[in-house]
Amino acid sequence: MPDNTSSEESNDGRRKFIVTSTIAASAACALFPLASGIPSVMDPATKETGTAEVPWTKITRLNTLPENGTPTKFEVILAKVRDAWTTYTNIPAGAVYLARNGKEVTAFNLKCPHLGCAIDYRKNTNDYFCPCHNSTFALDGSVTTENSPSPRGMDTMDTKVEDGTVWIRFQHFRPNISEKVPI
Ligand code: FES
Repeated sequence: MPDNTSSEESNDGRRKFIVTSTIAASAACALFPLASGIPSVMDPATKETGTAEVPWTKITRLNTLPENGTPTKFEVILAKVRDAWTTYTNIPAGAVYLARNGKEVTAFNLKCPHLGCAIDYRKNTNDYFCPCHNSTFALDGSVTTENSPSPRGMDTMDTKVEDGTVWIRFQHFRPNISEKVPI
């Protein structure tokens, strides 16, 4: 009579291997959708709060800005905007006030941090004013009234001057909260 013991052991081993492999593969399939989401969950700096991913946008030449710090308004046109499938070019994104101090430039978003109305620069009082609910701001963007509807000062953005050209990282921020949170 042939000895089938080793053949049965071998078949048994193969069955165990197949079962174990199937369980492992199923578990991997079940986990994959979660695993693929991990980088975006664990890297909020590039999605929500950081500025490293915000592209620089060219605004104007430094010598077009008054040297006495008087703010000048500019539209912001983004050279490229990408979504999942498409790249758009020359997209109007908002507006800024630029104020020069020597070779440095401060950029303020034109949107009021209260509810997003457009802020005016008032020449006669040399300050900023939002006509919607009468928030006022100093030239440095700080709130100047005690019971200001705006819960924070005007929103600034990163700026740089390279070869006489002013660049900004244009961003919008969540309205009506005291913290400055990019959106
Ligand atoms: S939106 Fe500017 S004060 Fe309300």
